[in-house]
Amino acid sequence: MTTRTIVVTVPSQLAEIVTDRMWQWGVQAVSETVLDTDRVEVATSVGNKSIAVERAMATLDPSWPTEIRDVDDSIAQVAPEYLSPTWYLDGMVSVPASLLPFEPDDRHALVTVIDPGSAFGLGDHPTTRTAMALLAGLLRGDRAVPCTSLLDVGCGTGALALLAAQLGVREIRAIDIADAAVEATLRNMELNDVVGTIDVDTAPVAEVTGTYDIVVANILAPVLIAMADDLRRLVRPGGSLVISGILAERHDHVLTALAPLTAVESLAHEGWMSIMLR
Ligand SMILES: C[S@@+](CC[C@H](N)C(=O)[O-])C[C@H]1O[C@@H](n2cnc3c(N)ncnc32)[C@H](O)[C@@H]1O
Repeated sequence: MTTRTIVVTVPSQLAEIVTDRMWQWGVQAVSETVLDTDRVEVATSVGNKSIAVERAMATLDPSWPTEIRDVDDSIAQVAPEYLSPTWYLDGMVSVPASLLPFEPDDRHALVTVIDPGSAFGLGDHPTTRTAMALLAGLLRGDRAVPCTSLLDVGCGTGALALLAAQLGVREIRAIDIADAAVEATLRNMELNDVVGTIDVDTAPVAEVTGTYDIVVANILAPVLIAMADDLRRLVRPGGSLVISGILAERHDHVLTALAPLTAVESLAHEGWMSIMLR
């Protein structure tokens, strides 16, 4: 089997812009290969469906030389020996499905199992683990807030929505632009025994109505800024918004866009930061 890989070759100073664009497609990995002193090849896959490949490529600048290569799956897959469970808080762990059966020493641990399919997220990325830790703090323990409804914007494999379901939130909606995210979230509801608890679809955030006690959005800064009005609208007065996917060193512009919501707590890991606002 082969995987269709989109490869963009650009001068090195453009590599970060191309990489950011590709992460917004909801991919699991983006590779950068230095070709010579000035050129970098940036590559990823959105799966083999032509419609998904075309939709992704339409968001690239036409001046960037782009090609599609068929890569052998045995090279493209992450080998299980490179995966590990992610303990994002005491007693709370996310586990790639390929590591099952998983028997933690702490028999009371809350385990969230994640099969990524073709969507973003094994639960181990710094943006996911810090968002899961902030969300867990909102939903259990001394500082828990009342929460009957939660919206996960950019759900990927559903890690955050699944955690909310496991912690008993009754009404959960999850949306993502990628079909693969819907498929993965449905599958992960089965793996975590929470079938039917999350309504998941590809509705644009602008079309979501109502308000939620908690809104979570782990998406890159430019996307968070573009949807800031919708995020504000969707948090009920006095509710909480957890944002992630932003750089620890550079995020003031995101907070400015979300004002008058105000940051009340944050967590950083490996240069990334999650922030809770009220
Ligand atoms: C960094 S991943 C986060 C996935 C998951 N929530 C997590 O924490 O692991 C960002 C997700 O946002 C989705 N996304 C990007 N732009 C979006 C948009 N405008 N509306 C909804 N989802 C979007 C991507 O497809 C991707 O699945």
